[in-house]
Amino acid sequence: MELNITCIPGDGIGPEIVAEAKKVLDAVAAKYGHTMNYTDILMGGASIDVHGVPLTEEAIATAKSADAVLMGSIGGDTTTSPWYKLAPNLRPEAGLLALRKALNLFANLRPALLYEELADACPLKKEISAAGFDMMIMRELTGGLYFGERKTVEENGVLKATDTLTYDENEIRRIAIKGFDIAMKRKKKVTSVDKANVLDSSRLWRKVVEEVAKDYPEVSLEHMLVDNCAMQLVKDPAQFDVILTENMFGDILSDEASMVTGSIGMLASASLNDTKFGLYEPSHGSAPDIAGKDIANPIATVLSASMMLRYSFDLDKEADAIDNAVKQVLKEGYRTGDIMSEGCTQVGCKQMGDLLAQRV
Ligand code: IPM
Ligand code: MG
Repeated sequence: MELNITCIPGDGIGPEIVAEAKKVLDAVAAKYGHTMNYTDILMGGASIDVHGVPLTEEAIATAKSADAVLMGSIGGDTTTSPWYKLAPNLRPEAGLLALRKALNLFANLRPALLYEELADACPLKKEISAAGFDMMIMRELTGGLYFGERKTVEENGVLKATDTLTYDENEIRRIAIKGFDIAMKRKKKVTSVDKANVLDSSRLWRKVVEEVAKDYPEVSLEHMLVDNCAMQLVKDPAQFDVILTENMFGDILSDEASMVTGSIGMLASASLNDTKFGLYEPSHGSAPDIAGKDIANPIATVLSASMMLRYSFDLDKEADAIDNAVKQVLKEGYRTGDIMSEGCTQVGCKQMGDLLAQRV
């Protein structure tokens, strides 16, 4: 099979981790007889430095013409980087938001699971983490507060900023359907998270999710208020299977869930549209403080590449080979600095990529 992949190395540790993911993908290609065609585009700070904008129309067109997009990470240190002196619509993050919108990537899948070998990294008490957990956060990605109208005005010498949170029923329905579809392939439970005791957008969310649930009689549905969910994630994470939620709640809860695993360097993500097309990226950020030192953990990006093979190309066997390589390397005791523990062998970013590629 020929796979046309647009790569976005991005900023910070992005280029290093994408290089290792490519290494692993090349090993998969060699073993299973596929051809990987990579085309790199600039996004975020890397694009600002060259083009003055975080994403160009040409870059969007290149991404659109690919079968899938594999991304590292974008952005820099918000207090020291000159990128953050630019107008908000010209900063690195604006490139990512624009790309999500341009590619209609409304469904964001963020798995958060506890790896047996890394259970010690989990910050929860043993009696809580002992049950293990494996959840999928399904975040709506192209609506809500992050894409509503916003403005800052001065009224009678007082600055006033407004952001708007809007969802129409179709936007809610399509993400709910994806959420229930995924639940059918997992433990068949959906927790829909909202703030229906306050927000109209949440009340509509709840109504539409209940309608969609009728088509999935095998899936059990519960509603949970977002503040309670934030609490439940640390109190009893094992209760969750699929968490279905809107854009900002999903942004916040997915960071919390990844911290609860104790190993954010291990967590992948996929952003999908209505077709097989998707953008795949690690859940973590660009970690500018450790960029270029060959100490970043490439596993989240490698696992994102595995999600790409699974969701965009239906190459389940190949994706399994990557997932198993990760488990194998962990079992053999190899760790990057972020997940290092006593008795293990610490390796750099490149060496971790080599080990993974060899085990594919
Ligand atoms: C994420 C990030 C982005 C978001 C930022 C960089 C705009 O936090 O992917 O979670 O909020 O969506
Ligand atoms: Mg975030």
